[in-house]
Amino acid sequence: MSLLFAANWKMNFLSKDLKNYFQIFAEKFVAAENSVDTVFAPPFVLLKDADNLISKIKGIELAAQNAHWLESGAHTGEISCSMLKDCGATYAILGHSERRQFYGETSAAVAKRAKAVVTNEMKAIVCIGEQDYKEDGSNTEEILQQLRESVSGLSTDEANKVIIAYEPVWAIGTGRAATPEIVNRIHNILREELIKLWGEVGGQTIILYGGSTTADNIAELTALKNVGGALVGGTSLKPDLFNQLIINGRKGKNLA
Ligand code: PGA
Repeated sequence: MSLLFAANWKMNFLSKDLKNYFQIFAEKFVAAENSVDTVFAPPFVLLKDADNLISKIKGIELAAQNAHWLESGAHTGEISCSMLKDCGATYAILGHSERRQFYGETSAAVAKRAKAVVTNEMKAIVCIGEQDYKEDGSNTEEILQQLRESVSGLSTDEANKVIIAYEPVWAIGTGRAATPEIVNRIHNILREELIKLWGEVGGQTIILYGGSTTADNIAELTALKNVGGALVGGTSLKPDLFNQLIINGRKGKNLA
């Protein structure tokens, strides 16, 4: 199963920062052998600059941090998939908890975005995750409902272009990553649900973990059967640390 490490830069960096970032990143970066396993999601306005800079580095691609479902029109402040592709993005992160929590994003809207992204031959990284930690696992239904609603309306064919990111809100930016036990339990439940939804394709869907991942804790997470990589916030802002996270994350799956 292929791995994926996606750097979610959120609302950070200016165009002047990019050259230095990618220079440091490229020093130690080794492209994955048979697939692209590293994706950067800069703010929209930096996509084009980032695209120019990464064109010299083999094995990485770009993601947008959101995407609108319509092609064009009277939607002030929104960005369509063709605009994103025009700037070099081949992936889009959708339904991140910060969008759900602070900007009223609903799973129904995420489903519309996901449909547009895959129709445009891009890949959708669909984020789901519970608000609060509950020892007894009573939040499982909350997570599954988000999953079902956020990918509703996608055919099995389209599901090939979907990546799921499990990001418990209580673990994001807190320095308190979910334990391997929790991640294992939730990713196994998600796998079962994805197989129910999409059969064989669901058995192969990449499921990322996100929330306070570091170079130190990534290997024990990627070692888990149903963890296919990570959506990385804070650590991805430091090119050397993000690089080390990728190296260690690959080791967790016994990949060089
Ligand atoms: P974090 O963010 O790695 O800083 O916890 C992850 C995310 O929000 O995608």
